[in-house]
Amino acid sequence: NDVLYYSELESTNNTAREIASRSSEGTVVLAETQKSGRGRMGREWQSVPGGLWLSLILKPSIPLDNLSRVTLVAGIAVTNALRNMGVDAHIKWPNDVLVKGKKICGILTEVSAEIGKVEYVILGIGINVNVKLSDLNDDIRRNSTSIANETGKPIDRTSFLASLLYELEQQYIRFKTRQFAEIVDEWINLSDTIGRNVRVTTPTLLIEGKAIGITEKGALVVLDKNDKKHEIIAGNCRYSD
Ligand code: BTN
Repeated sequence: NDVLYYSELESTNNTAREIASRSSEGTVVLAETQKSGRGRMGREWQSVPGGLWLSLILKPSIPLDNLSRVTLVAGIAVTNALRNMGVDAHIKWPNDVLVKGKKICGILTEVSAEIGKVEYVILGIGINVNVKLSDLNDDIRRNSTSIANETGKPIDRTSFLASLLYELEQQYIRFKTRQFAEIVDEWINLSDTIGRNVRVTTPTLLIEGKAIGITEKGALVVLDKNDKKHEIIAGNCRYSD
């Protein structure tokens, strides 16, 4: 992979998007800190020193409505890379990676599309590798952890990056060559969402019920108290048990 390294950027996703059309697939944009790191749903992402803040440029030839699949694939790769470090990571739908209920990684997938077909995907991944939790805002700190905090010592970010990029590549190859059902199975194994009671909010809906599965499109299936099934393609999920 080409890895473009910056000491500081507004957001690696922005820089990746700017260069996507002239960059080859697999190009990585990496910054030590971000001045306006972005999270899902317009939230801020605190990007202090010690983390890995990166964006990967992908050019999959997929219909736009399969985009959520890419997010699931990235969650699997990050979770595997963390588990290889001895960190007991689980995925919370759609794409938070948690350790004992605390967030260690967030993924922000952005896309440019033409006539319903994906042109390129910017896969933004933020991992609190050696982040000092005391550097985070109170609100964020309460629900966050880092690799160093879990393992008790700072880790080598370069070798962790190499292992993460390897996992991402393996999962991406599988995504392009295998049935998606196989990926859903692995995602469910690595996730702690299925079987939980959840409250999922979307811009227009609040759905409460039990998470019972993932569809072919990567949507979460929630069974409400009237036994009605809802398929949610994007939203904010909270555990209610
Ligand atoms: C979330 O959990 O809400 C997603 C957070 C994604 C953060 C990463 S850090 C690298 C990339 N650049 C950004 O501005 N955001 C993503």
